[in-house]
Amino acid sequence: MSNSSLFRTKKIEQSIRDTEEPEHALKKSLSALDLTVFGVGVIIGTGIFVLTGTVAKNNAGPSVALAFVVAGVVCGLAALCYAEFASTVPVAGSAYTFSYASLGELPAWIIGWDLVLEFALGTAVVAVGWSGYIRSFFDNAGVTFPEALSGRDGAEGFGFDILAAALVLVLTGILVLGMKLSARITSLVVAIKVAVVLIVIIAGAFFIKGSNYDPFVPKSQPVEAGAGLDSPLIQLMFGWAPANFGVMGIFTAASVVFFAFIGFDIVATAAEETRNPQRDMPRGILGSLFICTALYVAVSIVVTGMQHYSELSVDAPLADAFKSTGHPFFAGVISFGAAVGLTTVCMILLLGQTRVFFAMSRDGLLPRFFSRVHPKFRTPYRPTILLGVIIAIVAGFTSLSELAELVNIGTLFAFVVVAISVVILRRTRPDLPRAFRTPLVPALPIVSVAASLWLMLNLPAETWVRFGIWMAIGVVVYFLYSRTHSRLARGEDTPAGPGGQ
Ligand code: ALA
Repeated sequence: MSNSSLFRTKKIEQSIRDTEEPEHALKKSLSALDLTVFGVGVIIGTGIFVLTGTVAKNNAGPSVALAFVVAGVVCGLAALCYAEFASTVPVAGSAYTFSYASLGELPAWIIGWDLVLEFALGTAVVAVGWSGYIRSFFDNAGVTFPEALSGRDGAEGFGFDILAAALVLVLTGILVLGMKLSARITSLVVAIKVAVVLIVIIAGAFFIKGSNYDPFVPKSQPVEAGAGLDSPLIQLMFGWAPANFGVMGIFTAASVVFFAFIGFDIVATAAEETRNPQRDMPRGILGSLFICTALYVAVSIVVTGMQHYSELSVDAPLADAFKSTGHPFFAGVISFGAAVGLTTVCMILLLGQTRVFFAMSRDGLLPRFFSRVHPKFRTPYRPTILLGVIIAIVAGFTSLSELAELVNIGTLFAFVVVAISVVILRRTRPDLPRAFRTPLVPALPIVSVAASLWLMLNLPAETWVRFGIWMAIGVVVYFLYSRTHSRLARGEDTPAGPGGQ
């Protein structure tokens, strides 16, 4: 096996040509505004609606607002790298496609495999969160679902979250019918979701009690001994006594609420469906990220001001903070809006997932069967249906928190690869037109890599182990199937050769 074949790169011009073959082409219908709506549609979700409460209560207190700033900065740095790539390589597949053009086939496979994990589990996590909100909404109206159909831990040891699975299947159907339909539904739901977030900020501001902010950064507290693999890797590496709260608690919190930002990278996966990717991609990515960071900080400051952090609910903290101040009407509106909002998050994660799978199959790294678009709807209906069914089953049988951490580590890993790729591609293909250039290369990408690694190290050691197992399986699949079936290997595409030329 020659080393160079593992690092053979796909010519960027070839990537763009592939999208012009009629039976593999997706419709180009999205504008910068569509992309921003699309971004906000997926970014605001379980992170702010659910994780804020858990993290304030267990890790950071009111300083969860600072955790959002830390996570937002890490994402902002990565976004500046993503934006350059998305505007240079405007084809389906996100970080996968970018790395195929710069780092080579094996790294591209690894990143694609990683993104499949991120999006599939992310979809499942959000579907389960959605189902919880819907059930609590119906509970208020006196309708209770049987325990066995409400989640993994149902009565008599069998539990299947039928609502979560049903949501994934319905969304799969919508995606098969076409992108434009999805974008229209998305806009409506995003409007509802942003309105709900603004209600929390504006109405909640009237119920803030200054004493709840004292202390803003709670004192560090040791965690019970024997936490072992649950502890952040960084604490185990340096032999620190595992602790919550304090300054380190802000970073632990940031590594969890990072989930709230996942999604801006998915905007990049829609590059191929964008009318003018060179101009609109960077605007869409940076715009949606900026809006969300501002909203998160405001929401977390308001909510931890309304209720003492130690009393925040972990299931529906935003709604319950209003209940605690004696305003159940607001609580109802917020629960409804959250449930509606989580629907689009789930749908767009599913969309990002099928697009990565589609791109990998078009390149022959996964069976080519999956890269035929539907003759009428022009959507990659085969991977959409296959993955939709698998994710529906996973969503039915899994619980939230550990999966969210696994999604985070996968996403941060993708950020690292993208930042490295920016630097490599500047050297190997300086000639390519770049509508958006990352400032301060290579310093900014290096800082981005360090920041992403830092958050990764603040995730539990067991999350690292699970991630390692998934990636090891990916490498085995690559050597058994993808390496010999890739279009580059079969000479259907001209490899760009060493150095990417
Ligand atoms: N950022 C998305 C959420 O918080 C994935 O649900």
